[in-house]
Amino acid sequence: MRFWKSLIATAAVALLPWAATAQTVKIGIINTYSGPNATLGEQIDNAIKLYTKEYEKNLPPGVKIELIRRDDTGPNPDVAKRLAQELITRDKVNMLAGVVWTPNAAAIAPLATEAKIPFMIMNAGTAAISTMSPYIARVSFTLWQSSHPFGIWAAKNNIKKAFIAVSDYGPGHDAEAGFEKGFTDNGGQIVGKVRMPLANPDFVPFMQRIKDSAPEALFVFIPAGRQATALMKAFGDLGLDKAGIKLIGPGDITTDEELPNMGDAAIGVITMHHYSAAATRPANQAFVQAWKREYGPNTTPAFMAVGGWDGMAAIYHAVREQKGRIDGDKTMALWKGWKNDQSPRGPIMIDPETRDIVQNEYVRRVERVGGALANVEFETIPMVKDPWKVINNRK
Ligand code: PHB
Repeated sequence: MRFWKSLIATAAVALLPWAATAQTVKIGIINTYSGPNATLGEQIDNAIKLYTKEYEKNLPPGVKIELIRRDDTGPNPDVAKRLAQELITRDKVNMLAGVVWTPNAAAIAPLATEAKIPFMIMNAGTAAISTMSPYIARVSFTLWQSSHPFGIWAAKNNIKKAFIAVSDYGPGHDAEAGFEKGFTDNGGQIVGKVRMPLANPDFVPFMQRIKDSAPEALFVFIPAGRQATALMKAFGDLGLDKAGIKLIGPGDITTDEELPNMGDAAIGVITMHHYSAAATRPANQAFVQAWKREYGPNTTPAFMAVGGWDGMAAIYHAVREQKGRIDGDKTMALWKGWKNDQSPRGPIMIDPETRDIVQNEYVRRVERVGGALANVEFETIPMVKDPWKVINNRK
């Protein structure tokens, strides 16, 4: 009897450390799973799933990650705010992540601050977002990060007169301001500007007006996804390419997953961006191969997928380092200065001062490669920090 009692006691003690470390980390994912922009949410979510499948086994023993997904249905800040509130107070999430849209990220930011919940932005790209809460870190991009160096590049590469057309909200305003500054500081001239509605835009009248003003180049920002294809179609149908107008912009306008839908009007379009599925870096080739194996040979991961993928890498880093016992401030400290030289997009770092991503920007041209359209990188601007923060000394 004594023997059995002591054996049971010993076994219980032996199990204790394991029991004490068994932890479930809850991550609230706010993403666009329905509506006309559901393809964007699908990019991010497929990356989250693929990352989980490949790396879940590397979590410390007893540590689990539970993903709680919520659908914001599109750029709807009120919905996003309500979902974040519920995830924080009812589901008791340890972190928030996801978010395609700037207005949604901005609506969530004060809640992250109040609850001290780390919030990893996987897409939303307006520069100021990371300044809206000390609990925000961003692994995606800013529009300034692509558009400002691209303005400099365009002015130095024989474009003298450009027209700017952007979606009328945060990222569009940033793309416009960033390009204009880089371009005009280097001798370029802006011959016209227009802001187009974010919801249900009809690009035809805008393209007609721009064609009539005959600029050398048209710089455009619209959100990636189906809008990018609609824009490309209007540009081609109205013959702006035949009129000799060069279409340029951040990589959102030639987003990889939409290239097969865009047709020949996209050929020759030059963009600047941090990710191309066609990049030949080994880490990218492995990523694209795994994606095609999982989701089919005709699917392509685009920049939003890479935001989801790298966001998961940062989240896994914080979970591993804390062995599943998540503290908000400790998580932010772990994200500040976090580096990954194995991202599909090339080396990345979270700037410890601004909590925003530092990454390469690539100049790319749409070409036909092996029968399919691809964003072919041909020049690299290494490790660009968000220029809006650098210029305005913002943290
Ligand atoms: C944003 O709302 O921040 C956003 C959405 C789509 C993009 C880029 C930025 O392609």
